[in-house]
Amino acid sequence: MMGMPATGTWATFGPEAGFAGREAPHDALVAKEPKEGARGGTMGSPALVLAVETSCDETAAALVSDGRVLSSVVSSQAELHARFGGVVPEVASRRHLELVTPVVRKALDEADVSLDDVECVAVTQGPGLVGALLVGVSAAKAIAWAKRLPLVPVDHLDGHVASLYLDPEPIEPPFLCLLASGGHTQLLAVPERGRSDRLGTTLDDAAGEAFDKGSRLLGLGYPGGAEIDRLAREGDPEAFALPVARVPGLDFSFSGLKTALLYAVRELGDEETECRRADLAASYQRAIVAALAGRAREAAERTGLERLAVVGGVAANSGLRDALPDARFAPLAFCTDNAAMIASAARYADQVPYPGYLDLDAYASAA
Ligand code: KG4
Ligand code: ZN
Repeated sequence: MMGMPATGTWATFGPEAGFAGREAPHDALVAKEPKEGARGGTMGSPALVLAVETSCDETAAALVSDGRVLSSVVSSQAELHARFGGVVPEVASRRHLELVTPVVRKALDEADVSLDDVECVAVTQGPGLVGALLVGVSAAKAIAWAKRLPLVPVDHLDGHVASLYLDPEPIEPPFLCLLASGGHTQLLAVPERGRSDRLGTTLDDAAGEAFDKGSRLLGLGYPGGAEIDRLAREGDPEAFALPVARVPGLDFSFSGLKTALLYAVRELGDEETECRRADLAASYQRAIVAALAGRAREAAERTGLERLAVVGGVAANSGLRDALPDARFAPLAFCTDNAAMIASAARYADQVPYPGYLDLDAYASAA
């Protein structure tokens, strides 16, 4: 068993009973004949997928078999970045480099499988921090190449949408999807698994970014969404009127909101802000939730898509869950970044057969 990393929080999603793994050593990187890897599923998805995700500050690996999660290991670097109040890209890349191998090994251990059992490797190709992405892409390429497996490059946003299919009783397209994370806020029409058409996006900050910036202004920790969510339960959401800019179409804008919070905090002064922190958190959350829920409802009206799904880190927010009681939310364990959702998306993406992926590159921004 390897040593655990010195920093970082480990979250795991245990293997389900009944999966018979073989007992080959995990690091037996012995080349064999290329694997076909294609069976079942819409795009000929392979049965056992090893997925790697390193797009931001979570180092994650998962084993997913026919859409069933055998293991999902997420090592968060949040503590490492907390003192900077946000992710420092260079620090993130270096930490991914240290963590990627132990995280993959832990995922294999927890799924009780060996690399010899794996039929396909999936990896987040973008968007994200390019230095961070490159660590995962290089690791995935190396594993796939050594085992002569196909590789599936996955778009991170497709991964968030595909987190819905990890639900034991998943929502099926067509549906409308609100994707709200630290890096993105989008409204998507999903006509079929593996496809989505963008209807709207944020013109400035993402919803999760707004939570993180608000948290910093209130002197709370990083990442801020969960902190504000927790504190908001003790506060009055009507206490402060914090407006969210209304922009045309189905787009979003959150940058003005954080300025409104900044002014409110300045006006109150340090002592009063301290006393009213729960009210400020509740009012701030209410404004973000109202903007997200309002636009989602407008999109439903315009498109005629009756069913709404919500994915991404902000989908964990209890205020948003309360505001959209009829929507389907991604399973809580798979809202924030994880590799199980990447394995799920890989079922509907194109495989690159061995060894055609050696020059595959990461991309930083969404197309
Ligand atoms: O999807 P994610 O893990 O990473 C990106 O792809 O960006 O989302 C992270 C974001 C962070 O901004 C974090 O503050 C936010 O999701 N978040 C939340 C909650 N939990 C995480 N926002 C609101 N309420 C939460 N409970
Ligand atoms: Zn994400």
